[in-house]
Amino acid sequence: MPRPLSRRFAVAPMLDWTDRHCRFFLRQISRHALLYTEMVTAPALAHGDVARHLDFDAAEHPIALQLGGSDPVQLAHAARLGERWGYDEINLNCGCPSERVQTGSFGACLMAEPSLVADCVRAMRDAVALPVTVKHRLGLDANEDYGFVRDFVGTVARSGCEVFVVHARNAVLKGLSPKENREVPRLRHDVVHRLKRDFPELTIVLNGGLTAWPAIERELAHVDGVMIGRAAYHDPMLLAAVDWQVFGDESPPPTRARVLQAMVPYVAAQRARGVALRSIARHMLGLYHGCPGGRRFRQLLSDATLLKDATGDLLLATLAAVEPGVDAAPDPVAPPACARTGGRRASHTSGISATKINAER
Ligand SMILES: Cc1cc2nc3c(=O)[nH]c(=O)nc-3n(C[C@H](O)[C@H](O)[C@H](O)COP(=O)(O)O)c2cc1C
Repeated sequence: MPRPLSRRFAVAPMLDWTDRHCRFFLRQISRHALLYTEMVTAPALAHGDVARHLDFDAAEHPIALQLGGSDPVQLAHAARLGERWGYDEINLNCGCPSERVQTGSFGACLMAEPSLVADCVRAMRDAVALPVTVKHRLGLDANEDYGFVRDFVGTVARSGCEVFVVHARNAVLKGLSPKENREVPRLRHDVVHRLKRDFPELTIVLNGGLTAWPAIERELAHVDGVMIGRAAYHDPMLLAAVDWQVFGDESPPPTRARVLQAMVPYVAAQRARGVALRSIARHMLGLYHGCPGGRRFRQLLSDATLLKDATGDLLLATLAAVEPGVDAAPDPVAPPACARTGGRRASHTSGISATKINAER
């Protein structure tokens, strides 16, 4: 029996960011956070390379597939594929304001058509046994009327959707880029709290603007869960506290060194399939965010010359350059580095050594 999904803490769907490599990396930091895919459109699954869009590593569980679309039949088909591929949840995007997405008439503009969203949810629920959830905004353009989002949630809930992930801002459909749409419309967390009070039977997850623990904990007192986007990507070690702070898991949190070591076999497997290290390393640049050596870490792992044809050894060499006192050898049976006393000198057998990296800079 699969364990029921906890939505207490999730990492947001982010196009071009939360691809499978990013998710595998984040999973090394938190075992329990629910991870979302980038949005995959239903038409892409109807006509495109399904495996390329949907393949993921078993280690990524729990994982939700986010779909974009507005055709119930096409979405039902996409949800069925998601279930067959082993995802734990299907989520419908009703929050993306990009003009390209509007042309396909899905994303945030669907908030103006709650009955259509309800039809889509019903079709997906009929097609799969997985939970079907919706991610949306508070309103459209300048309309900050609470009744709009309340009625949207009420209508969609009647189709059987029990989980709403609410990005606590309006979406401005014309005149703002997607990036501006994540910054300009004001955050209104209080409206999400009100939704939770008005729909106590629903699971309401708050998203938008959370970047640090005190604020995350404050929000968790008002809603069923939080979803973090940009902060988790730019400062992934924010997730290191999730397992004990949110899920009560008392295993020691991972160290940065341990996370890097855990990525080495993954990189080897991906390199064997022809994936460039660059495609994986680009998601790891924030690992030392705010730490001594953070800049150096980013420089080394985004250096095109070093990355060309590189293997996971580059990760170990970078670790040795940034944290010279830490054992850089990958050893899957060793206890986490944070549980050890006293660091040993870096020892590694890689072709690219820290000395070479230092000499090259
Ligand atoms: C690069 C990027 C891509 C995004 N792509 C998606 C997407 O595919 N689907 C979606 O629902 N939201 C998408 N979002 C929005 C995030 O899921 C989230 O709602 C938003 O960033 C607010 O959360 P935050 O303040 O914690 O970052 C994206 C955000 C970013 C930064």
